[in-house]
Amino acid sequence: MAYESVLYEKRQGIAYATVNRPEKLNALNRAVLVELRDCLDDTREDADVRAVILAGAGRSAFVAGADVSEIAECDAATGTQFSRRGQELMNFIEGLEKPVIAAVHGYALGGGCELAMACTLRVASETARFGLPEVKLGIIPGYGGTQRLARLVGKGHALEMILTGEPITAQEAYRIGLVNLVVPEDKLRTSAEGVARKIAANPASAVALAMRAVQHGLETTVSEGEFVEAALFGLCCATEDMKEGTRAFLEKRPPKFTGR
Ligand code: COA
Repeated sequence: MAYESVLYEKRQGIAYATVNRPEKLNALNRAVLVELRDCLDDTREDADVRAVILAGAGRSAFVAGADVSEIAECDAATGTQFSRRGQELMNFIEGLEKPVIAAVHGYALGGGCELAMACTLRVASETARFGLPEVKLGIIPGYGGTQRLARLVGKGHALEMILTGEPITAQEAYRIGLVNLVVPEDKLRTSAEGVARKIAANPASAVALAMRAVQHGLETTVSEGEFVEAALFGLCCATEDMKEGTRAFLEKRPPKFTGR
């Protein structure tokens, strides 16, 4: 598939997907959703890809929201479909079982903030601004924002952001737990790569299963989550990388993981 609104490349085990509509501050229109999904399908299938870095092109924005010109045309039925389409992509990102690092500069508003929240981790530049301004347009966050924000930062901070619609700075986002790291703008890409490489140095199966355990646990009871955790722990114990990791520790040498 040829992409018009996303730049996609793979280098040394990392896939880079960059939303590329800078003239519209990378607003997520239907084409972007389709193209992002296609890139991420590719990263899922490619065993050499160990992490994804998601970014926005241009100087001003990661993503300034879902495309308001598409929202403006919605009625009750198409509005629901619009929201479901976006949710589907966000859920796919969250369930990819490969770490997806959002590298956020400039505006991450509405669907852009929701896209960042669906990622595994968020690295922000000092210039980043996060917000869910949908209420100002007479709508509510529709790409999972009402659910993920409260889970990430707690109900109080989430409702403050959702009901006022006001953006917050990168530092404030860090303070409330919305982002993992704040770095100078010129260090954004290398910092995101650093996080991605740190994770990629660990066995792929342990990384994927840890992500599955945490995700599953957020959607169920603690006892059910622990039941799943124990089953996934058992799966880890069936891998060669587990044998190698534990043996290397006991033999006081660095491990050599093979991905098996
Ligand atoms: N959907 C569609 N187009 C958008 C957009 C969005 N979410 N965000 C920005 N754009 C477009 C603008 O319409 C403008 O297009 P034009 O040049 O053809 O008029 C272009 O991107 C540049 O945006 P502009 O508003 O001129 O930039 P700015 O620096 O003055 O303001 C923002 C930046 C982010 C404050 C402002 O663009 C904004 O409020 N965007 C919408 C944010 C929002 O409500 N997102 C949630 C949507 S659900």
